[in-house]
Amino acid sequence: MTIYQEVILDHAENPRNTGNIQNPTNTVIVYNPLCGDKIKMDVLIKKDRVIDVRFQGQGCAISKAASSLLTDWVKGKTKEVLKNMTKKDMMKLLKIELGPNRIKCALLPLEALQKLLI
Ligand code: FES
Repeated sequence: MTIYQEVILDHAENPRNTGNIQNPTNTVIVYNPLCGDKIKMDVLIKKDRVIDVRFQGQGCAISKAASSLLTDWVKGKTKEVLKNMTKKDMMKLLKIELGPNRIKCALLPLEALQKLLI
């Protein structure tokens, strides 16, 4: 197993930033139409900067790991920086190759983040 696969496994088994935020700035729920899994994500933004972000949901190991890695990464970033985040950036965070079906799992938290920032 590569170091990157170990990181993904760790985030899938011990996801960071789970749960709810009391009085979030925004909340969204997104679904993966291929499997029906969903992620609920809360964000707290002050002065255009992400102070906290939390997620909950039923999902596979990839979607959990991607949510954990993404929520860790976005804390402290400005809305402007995050609005420009692309699918390619999300895949760079994961650092592993995925097939077409699994890519949708990895992009689910990015979809949630993008909807939170609208
Ligand atoms: Fe459902 Fe990955 S299989 S989110």
